[in-house]
Amino acid sequence: MGIESPYIRPRRLRATPAVRRLVAETRLHPAELIMPMFVREGITEPIPVSSMPGVVQHTRDTLKKAANEAAAAGVGGIMLFGVPAVQDAVGSEGTNPDGILQQAIRDVVAEVGDQVVVMSDLCLDEYTDHGHCGVLAADGSVDNDATLLRYAEMARVQADAGVHMVGPSGMMDGQVAVVREALDEAGHQDVSILAYTAKYASAFFGPFREAVGSSLKGDRKSYQQDPANARESLRELELDVAEGADLVMVKPAMAYLDVLRQLADHSPVPVAAYQVSGEYAMVEAAAANGWIDRDRMILETLTSIRRAGAGQILTYWGTEVAQWLRNS
Ligand code: PBG
Repeated sequence: MGIESPYIRPRRLRATPAVRRLVAETRLHPAELIMPMFVREGITEPIPVSSMPGVVQHTRDTLKKAANEAAAAGVGGIMLFGVPAVQDAVGSEGTNPDGILQQAIRDVVAEVGDQVVVMSDLCLDEYTDHGHCGVLAADGSVDNDATLLRYAEMARVQADAGVHMVGPSGMMDGQVAVVREALDEAGHQDVSILAYTAKYASAFFGPFREAVGSSLKGDRKSYQQDPANARESLRELELDVAEGADLVMVKPAMAYLDVLRQLADHSPVPVAAYQVSGEYAMVEAAAANGWIDRDRMILETLTSIRRAGAGQILTYWGTEVAQWLRNS
């Protein structure tokens, strides 16, 4: 082979839109997208989340509208987060059968429950006044086993409200087993569990704190994983699958594609990824400055997350991207 005339030419498969389309290994589909939505108690107009341009805290009415838009665009799921009017030390509103999240579950199931999978965040940080994902022990640390009792109760009220899939996201040891047992004992054998399996103590969750009105002081490093570590994600995978997880998730997504790939290679259940608030905010902020091509970058990030092994992706662009995909 002469250097001036190679006979192996990979560029042939890149030459035209038709051939690129033919050989693409990764495709995005609306059904794999899950749209997170925030609903806030006691408001009459939606409130924009300033650190996430385009994202709002919904009223119950605008949530229904957004759920219908998402379903019409063909998304596979909607993940609901409740923002209560009152927070306290144990997160009482999280287990109030008429709490905002439970109302939202009933609303969204009634609107679009026959078309999409309705999911709910199962965690206490939206509900506690100290902002931690669990209840505190006397010394101020997050009490794992006392928190599990609260999660069991949350699972029951969310399932009673009709949710299809719960997402325990607090990174307490044993949370999937406790949630599974609570659901089964209450007759909710058919409610499934999307386990936050590899969840890191991440700066990428920053804008989410504003979205749910969480006033966390300090950090979550004593229960969320160290960004330095990949191996313990495999241990969490084993545990969550053994405890009864139906799907497992990696979070955040883009800074953890190696972890996602490892879980995808080892998991016997579907592996999802959460493109979190900070990932969204970075792209929107750069786009607002005219520094990047917003739409291309959104599709590239989602394609990369799929390529790394995610079967499902939670993304705040879920409805919009589903609409693009439908129209293309
Ligand atoms: C916990 C929870 C968090 C997110 C989803 N579920 C916050 C945290 O663990 O600190 C973050 C999602 C995002 O940043 O988009 N309830």
